[in-house]
Amino acid sequence: MWSGYGRVVDYLRISVTDRCNFRCGYCMPPEGIKLLGAQEVLSYEELLRIITILGQHGVSKVRLTGGEPLVRKGIVDFIRSTRAIGTVKDLSMTTNGSLLGDMAHQLKAAGLDRVNISIDTRNPERFARITGRGKVADTLEGIRSAIEAGLNPVKLNIVLTEELFEEDVFYFIDQVHRYPIAIRFIEYMPIGQGGVKPGASIAAIKSVISNAGYGALESVVFTRGNGPAKYYRLPRALGVFGFITPISEHFCHTCNRIRLTADGKIKPCLLANHEIDLKVALRSGGDDKAVYELFERALREKPFRHKLGECQDGTPIIRGMSQVGG
Ligand code: 5AD
Ligand code: SF4
Repeated sequence: MWSGYGRVVDYLRISVTDRCNFRCGYCMPPEGIKLLGAQEVLSYEELLRIITILGQHGVSKVRLTGGEPLVRKGIVDFIRSTRAIGTVKDLSMTTNGSLLGDMAHQLKAAGLDRVNISIDTRNPERFARITGRGKVADTLEGIRSAIEAGLNPVKLNIVLTEELFEEDVFYFIDQVHRYPIAIRFIEYMPIGQGGVKPGASIAAIKSVISNAGYGALESVVFTRGNGPAKYYRLPRALGVFGFITPISEHFCHTCNRIRLTADGKIKPCLLANHEIDLKVALRSGGDDKAVYELFERALREKPFRHKLGECQDGTPIIRGMSQVGG
């Protein structure tokens, strides 16, 4: 699939639910959002059909997001069925990790290849402040379990908020020496509800790491992913650091992805409000060709680049992250 501007799109991100057991301040308001009804959410059968159709057109990478994907019932069986289609070469998930302690082994056995786990600080109080209700111990247990289960590579996502302290960066420096994981710092995107404020810049984090006494960060190519992170290694580390800069250095020209919301809307771009309704076609007897044509349309309408971080046209992003899955 082509999206104009020479971009090949082979990567589908599916938000399987808008529900989440956390309330991260950069993602949703503390009181939560109005949740979708059961009928509004695409069924697993509908999702399997979409993955099958897109598989015939070269989409070989699928990521499951949320909300929190592990709160949706039946997710393990859905992963097994997705694997059974045979066209998905890379099957991954973005999760807050809180339920992975119990589920990592089952997920791996069902065919999940790898996970990205959000952990914005190691400190229990600050973690609770960011997530509203999360316990960092559960997420740490989830990370341990994911590594042990052989989900590989395990990637950690750290959004740069005011709650990330220098001591956290030192903790992550220690972890990157112990485990072959990818630890990624992500610029705060101003599209959530603002319950937690942005923090340090990517440059400041790089400087803390470079001056920590473990040697210089060296740029490396880390191919096990589909995304825009730029990776670096410290001389004696088993893992790598990644930096993701959607705002200060956008990467739209290499965007290889398309997104599907839990309520069946195709989103050509994360940072734009434009959506194409797929659910109506699915539920009114549209054939596979009609379904595929909606994706083709979405790709044609995929913008060249997002407009955050520059003079805005005044339209805020309507969907919070919890409804798109990052
Ligand atoms: N800015 C940057 N990253 C975000 N995420 C969620 N909301 C934001 C935001 N406003 C990240 C989460 C998770 C992934 C789904 O997206 O930390 O890792
Ligand atoms: Fe839940 Fe992830 Fe949003 Fe946090 S960022 S509230 S874990 S969906």
